[in-house]
Amino acid sequence: MFNSNESEFLKFSNVTKIFKSGHLKTYALDSVSFSLMENEILSVVGESGSGKSTLGLIAIAMETYNSGNVYFEGREIKKLKRKELRKFREKSQMIFQDPYESLNPFNSIYTSVSTPLYGFHSKMPYDEKRKSVIKILNDVGLMPATEYIDEFPTKLSGGQRQRASIARSFILNPKFIVADEPTSMLDASSVAEILTLLKKMKEQYKYSMLYISHDIASAHYISDRMVVMNLGRIIESGSSDEIVNHPAHPYTKKLIDSVPKLGEKLDNIENVNFIPKYINGGMKGCTYSNICPIARDKCKTERPELFDLGNNHYVACFYPLI
Ligand SMILES: Nc1ncnc2c1ncn2[C@@H]1O[C@H](COP(=O)(O)OP(=O)(O)O)[C@@H](O)[C@H]1O
Ligand SMILES: [Mg+2]
Repeated sequence: MFNSNESEFLKFSNVTKIFKSGHLKTYALDSVSFSLMENEILSVVGESGSGKSTLGLIAIAMETYNSGNVYFEGREIKKLKRKELRKFREKSQMIFQDPYESLNPFNSIYTSVSTPLYGFHSKMPYDEKRKSVIKILNDVGLMPATEYIDEFPTKLSGGQRQRASIARSFILNPKFIVADEPTSMLDASSVAEILTLLKKMKEQYKYSMLYISHDIASAHYISDRMVVMNLGRIIESGSSDEIVNHPAHPYTKKLIDSVPKLGEKLDNIENVNFIPKYINGGMKGCTYSNICPIARDKCKTERPELFDLGNNHYVACFYPLI
């Protein structure tokens, strides 16, 4: 594992995930298919409730699914043997939105960052563990590392805390990263710094990453390719440049239009939480049809499937904008 030359690193094939509560069902993922290529950063974009975190957790084998298949380097994740699953866990890491989720405030930076070493390389001598932590702290920009290693998270700024959390994710030299809204708790200047850091780390560590975000602008910055999700379905996918410059789905266009422009007054920005809150039983038509400005009758009764507009730009819309 993790050394094949297979270009398709991760593949979702018609993956459906249903959360049941009483007789109500939420289709967190409704027949989702996509591939993440080796050494690629792929963004998963969509508003809150669209199924992004569920997708990320399934990708990293921390959540089950109801139907479909997830393949990792060509092998079905459900069929990995115990040893293989352990290897998978060693080489796959999640970066969370809130660094406090991965950094216990009562633990020093050394203790937090070295925890995976104790789990997977328990026999490594203490000095070596400490050296590894110092190296990774320098790599993530907490320099000089000796000034941070024995500090506690409360002494760090939000951006520094996320750097420490990223250090912990990279200590085992992962090949697969799922970053779930890694910047959404940070102030604007730290956002840019963390995105730049993730790009820099990719040059050094050569990993494949799912970058999950509600913010299409940061996704555009960090990734070459993106998939756009709406209520459990992928409604558009393609190169990030192509999607941002020529969105084909009305929902994607809305996401782009809601990105604050430089100099725009905050009160002019439209509220982006336009998804109706509902629990569905698997929607018949397009998930966006009840609020889409250009929807026609067909959109409410028939499910649009993804089709190729050319240049690997796919859209699931009967009346695409381009
Ligand atoms: N553990 C869970 N139990 C029940 N419903 C859940 C659970 N996790 C997610 N959901 C529901 O699944 C849908 C997708 O959620 P999520 O994957 O968290 O979306 P996102 O990360 O895009 O906000 C939402 O409607 C959410 O309420
Ligand atoms: Mg989420």
